[in-house]
Amino acid sequence: MKLLMAANWKMHKTRADAAATLSRLVAALSGMPADREVAVFTPFTALSACADALGESPRIGLGGQNCYPAQEGAFTGECSPAMLRDVGCTWVLTGHSERRAIFGESAAFVGQKTAFALASGLKIVLCIGETLEERDSGQLAAVLERQMREGLAGVGDDMPAPVLSLAYEPVWAIGTGRVAGPKEILEAHALARAFLEKRFPAQGKAMRILYGGSVKPENAGEIIRLDNVNGVLVGGASLQAESFSRIVLA
Ligand code: PGA
Repeated sequence: MKLLMAANWKMHKTRADAAATLSRLVAALSGMPADREVAVFTPFTALSACADALGESPRIGLGGQNCYPAQEGAFTGECSPAMLRDVGCTWVLTGHSERRAIFGESAAFVGQKTAFALASGLKIVLCIGETLEERDSGQLAAVLERQMREGLAGVGDDMPAPVLSLAYEPVWAIGTGRVAGPKEILEAHALARAFLEKRFPAQGKAMRILYGGSVKPENAGEIIRLDNVNGVLVGGASLQAESFSRIVLA
């Protein structure tokens, strides 16, 4: 299984900045080891420029940060999986905690998006994670279980492993500089692995589980060597090619 090293640029970068960052990243990763794969989730407005900057780079994939579960229609402000594919995406993020918290996305709606995007031929990184309040009140396992169950509700149990990944991102570690410790990461990733193995009997073992939340060049190496950690999803430290390439090569 290849490690999946993913960049989430959130609402950052003009087209020119995005394309220049990506070109620097391609150059910095020319010697990337064969056991790594990269996905970059850019704002919608930068996708086309980024697709041009990437050219035929099979080991760096492009992704949208969100999609709407319909082919087309009267959904002002939204973007369909078919549109993402049209602009060169092979990936999409679903269930990011910012979408859940700021835009009120329910676990069930996240599930609709996940199933629809997979059926549309995109690969998925489904994000899950607990708030500090949920962790402190002993709800970690229940929260993750519900997010995974509802987030994957419409997905067939024969889904091939390379197209479906989870990202465990504790909400309290996102953008805060407070990275989860090895014990916390191991516990959550073991819960996610057990769920995947039960839900996808043939492929669950081989599905990737990423960690996200204040990943930096300084801590990435330790994190990706933990059991059941198969990559990282990086926000702030992915905005510069120099720091993200150090993470990818960690
Ligand atoms: P961060 O964000 O690396 O800035 O903490 C991670 C994410 O939200 O995906």
